[in-house]
Amino acid sequence: MGSNYDSPMIYLGRKELGGGESISINLEELENQFWLFLGKSGSGKSHTVRHVMDQMSGYQLDPRNGGLPPTFHVIGYHPDFGYDHFVNSGACRNIVPESINRLDFDYMEGDTSINPLQPLTDDPSAQFATIEDFIAYCKVVHPGIGSVQIKYIRDILDNVYSRCSKEGRCPDVTDLFNEIQMIKKSLKSGLGVEATRAMQKLRKEQIEKEKAYKSGDADTKGKEKLEGELNDLVAEMVDEFATYIKQNTIWVKDEYYADFDVGTVSTLDVLVAGLIRPNFFTRGCRTRPVQGLINVYDVHKLGERHQELMTHVLLTRLYKRCIVTTPSNMLNPAVAHTYIVADEVRYMNACARDLMSPANLIMGGSRKFGMGMLVGGQGADQLSADMARAFSVKIILDQNEAAYNDTKKFFRINEAILRKIVSKRSAYVKSGSMSELVNLFV
Ligand SMILES: Nc1ncnc2c1ncn2[C@@H]1O[C@H](COP(=O)(O)OP(=O)(O)OP(=O)(O)O)[C@@H](O)[C@H]1O
Ligand SMILES: [Mg+2]
Repeated sequence: MGSNYDSPMIYLGRKELGGGESISINLEELENQFWLFLGKSGSGKSHTVRHVMDQMSGYQLDPRNGGLPPTFHVIGYHPDFGYDHFVNSGACRNIVPESINRLDFDYMEGDTSINPLQPLTDDPSAQFATIEDFIAYCKVVHPGIGSVQIKYIRDILDNVYSRCSKEGRCPDVTDLFNEIQMIKKSLKSGLGVEATRAMQKLRKEQIEKEKAYKSGDADTKGKEKLEGELNDLVAEMVDEFATYIKQNTIWVKDEYYADFDVGTVSTLDVLVAGLIRPNFFTRGCRTRPVQGLINVYDVHKLGERHQELMTHVLLTRLYKRCIVTTPSNMLNPAVAHTYIVADEVRYMNACARDLMSPANLIMGGSRKFGMGMLVGGQGADQLSADMARAFSVKIILDQNEAAYNDTKKFFRINEAILRKIVSKRSAYVKSGSMSELVNLFV
């Protein structure tokens, strides 16, 4: 549409009453860039969000930001932010097929993953922060995790990072899992880390050779050769084992995990295995979010628990990325350059358990770093009063009567007005001093 940075107005529609004047929101006049869209299923939340995104995409941002349109990160709980959905909503004045960058998370076939152990910068302190964030993710999966388990994870991760950095790479969850396995075996056998790793390596080779032997691909001669190799390997293992026993079986005393309790280590094993099995933290990341595009993290195929975990990981990492990449001369921008779109406020609420939870951190601090949010939800009962107050634009669509009480309480709207709102047609818009019943996008 070729709008420019001078007039970041979002047109919402016309007043239902009076002369039907048009209603727009000036992004620059907002206290923060948090928009809430509340309404029952089918009332038009996603439709309205798409229109707002389309208009926001028409604004060329500050040239210091590369003149790009805003970057959207859509947490796709439902598959309704594809290009076709924008077209069907008539919200494609600025959005084109290339505007959408889909990141598909799937247990079986998706090719995208996030490495939660990848520090956000090269700064040495970033690794420390990443470990703490990882511990927070573990708490989402296992709310009852104890302080000893947390200490072990910290110590083990410190070690995994330093070992992987010697190999010139960043660890992922599989490295953590392997280290835990190694510690468990080492503690059980009384052998040190070197011995345990060497044994693990030999054992792996042995398994591969056994597999080849049993597969039946080799002919008789090949089988004899394989059998010989297998025997050699076993002999090598026996020799190696004897050497370690001769040298000292109490090497483990010198290792950082020497005083770890093997039972507790086994519980970590289960916890980390639970993060590996779903696949979305360990599979190579072929698709990455792109600045200036609508990045849709399609998580709709995942179970609710994993959607919650992904929300937690995404909110944490997107917000922190925004903090570390915002130069000091770009602080406090008039208009957000990055928006998180979460069309399910329940998940936001699950990420707002305490003051340090990611949703609360974002609500409290992201305006300064140019981050905004577009959040949808079925009713006010799905969010806390604190969270409800934090949004500077509230678009109240048609509600179920059961949600009237919370809506009245949170937003001070009287019931007569709530009854006037019509699904797919109108909404009550509250922002600053504005309180209007609006016929949407007419
Ligand atoms: N203002 C509108 N004008 C025309 N069509 C609309 C309007 N609002 C919604 N619709 C259409 O109504 C249908 C339902 O709307 P939408 O998907 O936005 O509902 P929703 O509130 O997001 O529901 P859910 O909670 O189930 O996600 C869609 O096909 C949408 O295109
Ligand atoms: Mg919807």
